[in-house]
Amino acid sequence: MQPRPRDTIRINDLLLIVPLLTGSVWPKPPGQAVLQPVLISLSIPHNISSTATTDDLSHTINYSFLCSLLRDSLNEKIPPLGTLENLSTRIFDLLLSRSSSDAPSLTEARLRVVQPRAPLNCKAIGVESRATTSSGSRWSTGYVKHFCEDLECSTIIGVNACEREERQIVRVNISIERWDSGLQRESWVDFRFMTRELHAKIQKTSYQTLEALTSYIAETALRHLSTDRTEQIQSPPLVTVRAAKPSAIVFASSSEIEICRTYSDYPESFIQGMEPGQNPTSDMATHTVALALGSNLGDRFYNIELALRLLETPEAFLGTKDATIAVVDTSFMYESAPMYVTDQPSFINCACMIETNLPPVALLKVLKLVETTVGRVPSIRNGPRAVDLDIILYDDAVIDTRGNPRKELDDLDGELVIPHPRLIEREFVLRPLNDMVPDFMHPLLHQSVSTLLAVLDIPADTTPMHKVIPFPQRPLPTDYTFPHSVAVVPPTLTHWTFPSSPRPTQKIAGPRTSKTRVMATLNATPDSFSDGATHNTLPTALEYAQNAVVAGASILDVGGYSTRPGAVFVSTQEEISRVGPCIAAIRTANAQLPISIDTFRPEVARAAILAGANCINDVYSFTGQESYPFPRTGSAAGGCMSDMKSIALEFAVPVILMHSRGDAGTNKDYEMYRYAGAGQEVLEGVRIELGAKVDFIVKGRGGVRRWFVIVDPGVGFSKTLEGNLEVLRDASAITADCHVGSGRDRCRNALAGYPQLIGASRKSFLGVILEQGGGRKTEPQERGWATAAAVACAVQQGAAVVRVHDTREMVDVVQVASALWERDVTDAT
Ligand SMILES: *[C@@H]1O[C@H](CO)[C@@H](O)[C@H](O)[C@H]1NC(C)=O
Ligand SMILES: *[C@@H]1O[C@H](CO)[C@@H](O)[C@H](O)[C@H]1NC(C)=O
Ligand SMILES: *[C@@H]1O[C@H](CO)[C@@H](O)[C@H](O)[C@H]1NC(C)=O
Ligand SMILES: *[C@@H]1O[C@H](CO)[C@@H](O)[C@H](O)[C@H]1NC(C)=O
Repeated sequence: MQPRPRDTIRINDLLLIVPLLTGSVWPKPPGQAVLQPVLISLSIPHNISSTATTDDLSHTINYSFLCSLLRDSLNEKIPPLGTLENLSTRIFDLLLSRSSSDAPSLTEARLRVVQPRAPLNCKAIGVESRATTSSGSRWSTGYVKHFCEDLECSTIIGVNACEREERQIVRVNISIERWDSGLQRESWVDFRFMTRELHAKIQKTSYQTLEALTSYIAETALRHLSTDRTEQIQSPPLVTVRAAKPSAIVFASSSEIEICRTYSDYPESFIQGMEPGQNPTSDMATHTVALALGSNLGDRFYNIELALRLLETPEAFLGTKDATIAVVDTSFMYESAPMYVTDQPSFINCACMIETNLPPVALLKVLKLVETTVGRVPSIRNGPRAVDLDIILYDDAVIDTRGNPRKELDDLDGELVIPHPRLIEREFVLRPLNDMVPDFMHPLLHQSVSTLLAVLDIPADTTPMHKVIPFPQRPLPTDYTFPHSVAVVPPTLTHWTFPSSPRPTQKIAGPRTSKTRVMATLNATPDSFSDGATHNTLPTALEYAQNAVVAGASILDVGGYSTRPGAVFVSTQEEISRVGPCIAAIRTANAQLPISIDTFRPEVARAAILAGANCINDVYSFTGQESYPFPRTGSAAGGCMSDMKSIALEFAVPVILMHSRGDAGTNKDYEMYRYAGAGQEVLEGVRIELGAKVDFIVKGRGGVRRWFVIVDPGVGFSKTLEGNLEVLRDASAITADCHVGSGRDRCRNALAGYPQLIGASRKSFLGVILEQGGGRKTEPQERGWATAAAVACAVQQGAAVVRVHDTREMVDVVQVASALWERDVTDAT
């Protein structure tokens, strides 16, 4: 075989007018051809060496001859051609067929056929192909590329709010390349249809990034190309999308993205996807819906918990087994003064995400029935109510059932307007929504929830919204009746209030400030390093608890199994027998005091709650001792996790989730987070590792309500001295609304906005500091003053709770530190 010539002879953009059946700007009835201009470019590999040396034209390909061959054979008088593909076939026949006597003897040709301004909305479409022939056989194509240039669309695109206010032009080039199916019928591309569809679809999008838009265009084009599963697997076309946003950058003519995609890049949509032709949104599909919940009558926390539990049993209301509703995420809980009517009790507001197969109107019916069951008293509009449920978002649907003339927004009785029309003016709806889906785009305003919240105009005289954590009453009163078929909802004992975090985009000077509460620690462990086991008898325990309350502690933490490195193993039974009687005795003496059980064992947590505890404090965040590194996916997180989760959910108790890496003394290397910057890697490690666990506990079916979660960075656990100081010094960064991770894993801080507990009391790293530089060795009990310094720092960092041993002294420290640093967030600007 001859080597392939390195030289090429070209004819560029030969203009011909040919009768074509398709592609005209104004379509004709089928079968009627229209004369249309096409530009033909040829490129032919040919060794010009002999012509070059002899300077004799007879040795080369006479391009003047080629042009007249094409012009004579393809003109107005030829029978109409179906498509550009038919035209390409005809040209290859002319050039490469041996049968025709006047054909030049070529073995290879590349051809580009362009039809300018063919479909509306784009500059040109065309087909590029390469055909070869070997002696005796008919020519065949080895490569075909269909393309369309400068499809012009206007759409909402951009990250900045100002960019999203109006549409801007996006220009798109699309090409579709195939290697072995040639110019056959199956691989034709109907650009008129495809560009029309793409144009309409792109207009409706509202992506933030060109990246997302190009990916969407590539997927839509692939979807358009084939419904044939064998083709998807055997000879998939490659789609290249190049999109430019000419108005993006003031000093450059445009910004552009180019991507190449094929079916396997969209595994969800193709290959393993639906059978061709099947409607992907059949009636039983799952929808994601955001609901707002509010209550301002009676036991408001009880009402909301009951509403959520009833909501998950829609079959009880609809009489059908097919209806499903699952709560998959919750917001923080907020207390706020009512917005429109001011002389009534303050509102509790929160929001949740549910997954349901119910259509909007059926869902609305369930919500109304839940409201009635919980005991909504229909009274003055916006007046007191036991519970109020509203559909805020339903997928990204836009729904208005009001018909014409439209009902007033204030009197929607039975009608649905989605997204909720008052969403953008109500902080008590936007803020909880922002806790769960800050990046969700409002389908009509094309702005994200976090942007809408940031630009919300909150009048200066509005009562600020506070975050609240409710504590249930435990044990249940003996005469307690609960007339519903769902798991018993406990009445509320008390609730804690914290300032709500500042607006997401608002930067305030210094750390967030809040009223810090004191957690007194009671070790029911004979080997406890912290108090020398002096409380291991009921009378001393009772006395300790009483003193702590008098001193000003807000909660008592009872533990029966030390987590200190090298602590003696304690069996579950032993742990229960240490904490159970102790908690029961303290509960009997003090009905009002929140008591947390410090354990990582589900059995112990359950027994302690039944004995009277109403909070779980778990140093392993429900993943058990052996859980480092935490598996992000799958059931590998173990039974411990799901048991603790269901106990927390069932008993509706707050949970304190701590960062640790298994054994307290080990796993101190945070090198992998070095990218976060020097002095930030431990902080970053805590945010990412604890964030993954908290997400696992809060999100998805059977998740713990977000408003019950307090996070603890785990000072003194799996961290070096420097690491402990780093976390303590900058603790407010643990729960900041910032981004974490790097590269593809970069995402919002999962711990953003959670109240934080800091427990540095008597820890050994304080002892190490005291000992450094020739200082003295200290026993834990001797580290009170050292603890005071750490507690002052925790208050300055805005900790919601500090866990201490020397309650009376530390209450004093907290009071003075609070006076020093506690400012209202609004004063800090
Ligand atoms: C081109 O032709 C010349 C002379 O006929 C020959 O020497 C040379 O090898 C050819 N080159 C290729 C790449 O075929
Ligand atoms: C090239 O083709 C043109 C048009 O067919 C013809 O007039 C001319 O004589 C040809 N030249 C040579 C050298 O073959
Ligand atoms: C176009 O090509 C197809 C497939 O190669 C063929 O079946 C059809 O008859 C052609 N139509 C015209 C008008 O040339
Ligand atoms: C599309 O292709 C045309 C012609 O090649 C080119 O001028 C234009 O810049 C391309 N547009 C984009 C967005 O790549």
